[in-house]
Amino acid sequence: MNNVNTTPSLSVIVLAAGKGTRMKSPLPKVLHPVVGLPMVMRVLNVAKSVGAKELRVVVGYGESLVRRVIEPLGATAYPQKEQKGTADAVASADPASLNGLVIIMNGDNPLVEAKDLKSVIENFNEMKADLAVVTAVMKNPGSLGRIVRQKGELKAIVEAGDAGAETLKLREVNSGMYVAKAEVLARLLPKVKPNNSKGEFYLTDIISLGLEEGLKVVAIQARPQVAFGVNTQAELAKASRVVFNRNRRRLLENGVVMVDPNTVYVEDDVEVGSGSVVYPNVYLRGSTKVGSYCVLEPGVHIISSTIADSAHIKSGCYFENAIVGEKVQIGPYARLRPESHVGREAHIGNFVELKKTTFGARSKAGHLTYLGDATIGEDVNIGCGTITCNYAADKKKYQTTVGNGVFVGSDVQFVAPVKIGDGATIASGSTITEDVPAKSLAIARGRQVNKPDWTPKG
Ligand code: UD1
Ligand code: MG
Repeated sequence: MNNVNTTPSLSVIVLAAGKGTRMKSPLPKVLHPVVGLPMVMRVLNVAKSVGAKELRVVVGYGESLVRRVIEPLGATAYPQKEQKGTADAVASADPASLNGLVIIMNGDNPLVEAKDLKSVIENFNEMKADLAVVTAVMKNPGSLGRIVRQKGELKAIVEAGDAGAETLKLREVNSGMYVAKAEVLARLLPKVKPNNSKGEFYLTDIISLGLEEGLKVVAIQARPQVAFGVNTQAELAKASRVVFNRNRRRLLENGVVMVDPNTVYVEDDVEVGSGSVVYPNVYLRGSTKVGSYCVLEPGVHIISSTIADSAHIKSGCYFENAIVGEKVQIGPYARLRPESHVGREAHIGNFVELKKTTFGARSKAGHLTYLGDATIGEDVNIGCGTITCNYAADKKKYQTTVGNGVFVGSDVQFVAPVKIGDGATIASGSTITEDVPAKSLAIARGRQVNKPDWTPKG
């Protein structure tokens, strides 16, 4: 028996050539971020998540910048030479070379979710449609194209600028998203003529053209968010608010305690375990994963870091690409720079900075310390004001290694490269330039001299 794969291939064409004049920003509109991700990236991510393999983006304004965002996602840029309208834009993406189903999406509609796209495709397949426009019923349809029906059946899309007073009253609008069989799209597009007030090639015309040919052309209704397009900074902020709410709700539903959710900044990939408490003005960004029963005090800012259960992160900490073990206590005002690894039950206090440093379990650095390119063992005490001198005059970085159970007094400098053996003690104020054997005491400072009966001159 032949093993025939009956699922048609799925492609997406994203329209993103516009400048977005009303954004009043030099950045191409589709690159404006909504909660950390450029709008066009959100659109592509959603298309990918429903199985779109071929990702084509119509580019124009800011082409090279847009390419830098979309190409790493596996998408291909299709330049549109002149912006002659949405139909011309789709034609620029060479739909004749596609098979199966094509979804057309606007690069500036950032609120579409995978569930929306899934249900649109399911509907399309169930109805055995050839072409579909995705619609939504809006409170304020504004300048969006109106969906004209006759006896419930889709008849046409009329642009607001071309619509009469009665048509403008319609509240069902064109979201700007379409699904079509590739061959239908390729056949209808060349038939579009610029017969409208703007003299543009309107993609919306393929609806009436398809109906004239007797094809199965349908309107599939979706949530109003699907039709939410960003044209201004105010609308961008509104879109961000929607995504923040979505992300915060996800954490709340997972049992995270938030004292004032509206002030917490949460990006899409962030996870927080149940029973953790997140205070106001906390920023959780990138791929950050926080365990259960953690406390994140006000003003904590965490980027793509992993924090194990029962950690207490005090106010004002800033972590980036760091890994933190269970039951640690960090801050207030500590900074973990990339590749910092803090072991379980460790304590990092105020004004301590770690960079490319592994800090062992149960070790402590309570105050005013810089540890860079260092490996600190377990059960180590790092005294106040200790620093690693990791960057040398030759502009290279050198390693400091401190063994288990070492006691480092206050105000010590480790001039790297240097190794301290297990159980050693470093006297306060020492400048350590040579290795220290295990279990020994190192003192490296000028001796104190007391001069009796001495008063300053003059
Ligand atoms: C379009 C629809 C309208 C729908 C609305 C939804 C048409 C004629 N009208 O209107 O019915 O309600 O979207 O948002 O299609 N673009 C290009 N090249 C072009 C023109 C546009 O890439 O030559 C891109 C834009 O950058 C944008 C998208 O296509 O991402 C939509 O274009 P836009 O000018 O915003 O169309 P609307 O007038 O809003
Ligand atoms: Mg628009």
